Amino acid sequence: MIFEPFKIGNLELKNRIVMPPMCQYSSDNAGSVKSWHISHYVARAIGGVGLIIVEATAIDPDGRISPNDLGIWDDSHVEGLKTLVERVHENGAKIAIQLAHAGRKSKATDDPVAPSAVRYSEHYGHPRELTQDEINQIVEKFQNASKRAKKSGFDGIEIHAAHGYLINEFLSPLTNKRTDRYGGSIEKRARILIEIISAIREVWDEPLWIRVSASDYAKGGNDVDDTIDILNFLKDKIDGVNVSGGGLVRDQSVKVYPGYMIDNAGRVKIGTNLAVIGGGLINSLELSEYSLNSEKCDLVFVGRQLLRDPYWPLKIAHEAGIDIEWPVQYERAKDVTK
Ligand SMILES: Cc1cc2nc3c(=O)[nH]c(=O)nc-3n(C[C@H](O)[C@H](O)[C@H](O)COP(=O)(O)O)c2cc1C
Repeated sequence: MIFEPFKIGNLELKNRIVMPPMCQYSSDNAGSVKSWHISHYVARAIGGVGLIIVEATAIDPDGRISPNDLGIWDDSHVEGLKTLVERVHENGAKIAIQLAHAGRKSKATDDPVAPSAVRYSEHYGHPRELTQDEINQIVEKFQNASKRAKKSGFDGIEIHAAHGYLINEFLSPLTNKRTDRYGGSIEKRARILIEIISAIREVWDEPLWIRVSASDYAKGGNDVDDTIDILNFLKDKIDGVNVSGGGLVRDQSVKVYPGYMIDNAGRVKIGTNLAVIGGGLINSLELSEYSLNSEKCDLVFVGRQLLRDPYWPLKIAHEAGIDIEWPVQYERAKDVTK
């Protein structure tokens, strides 16, 4: 099933293998695409991945995780991103971009911002509570970044609402202590995300989905049912959800094993009816097939396994005797009897 096509929104994918966003911290201080990014993503396109999601790309320089993050906060970024998109398309994969703001987990600014002035740990700066004006500006920056994603030719946008970065900080009661319209009830905590998605939809008709931490894996934090409620506020405006977990607080408690987040993906799928990208330490064809066949998800994300082996999709198809299209240049390696 993993080599069967799938449509997320109107985007046709040749198979169900997704490379999830993985920061390379390989840009310069200006956030530009470098030759590393081209080589890294093109290698996975050649290797047979259906959908590549480019790493967390900052909508604001103060929203970078590190000074070497990719950026999309300025029109000057479009040229490099456009080249990246073209090179990946030439090599047979679709490509989306993850738009991100690091919030209190930014190590690229002396003035980190967050829903509330609560620090992540002693290794991070003290964040300042965002004002209403600044929240409006952040919503606008997500919209402007989406316009640039369109100019760059991306096939999809993923909004980073996971792993303890800015949007996740608003969503969770552990990090959102506000008493205004952005804090308190779950609907109020979801307000900034709803505003961001609505603003993006004014300029972007193409596939749009959200990456969530389905569970904060921490007492008093969001769990899968809360995440389902949040997604149900938005589900008419999005085409899917990429289900991850954790990263919000230091004292999280999570058991990690092959497929560890797949059951959460399945619960989100049942609870929202959205197209679901699921995974977590997926490292075999068997585990991928189990995840898809048991309807835990529609697409599987394969992160570190693809860092270890960019040609993993070609390899597992070859080993299982599944005939898929190979790059013409490599066809002599497909059938060694020829
Ligand atoms: C080097 C590295 C960088 C990552 N950067 C991001 C990121 O930019 N955005 C994101 O949502 N997740 C990020 N992640 C998490 C991955 O997308 C993925 O969810 C995680 O690695 C679990 O999947 P895996 O077990 O298949 O690797 C990163 C993971 C790694 C290993």
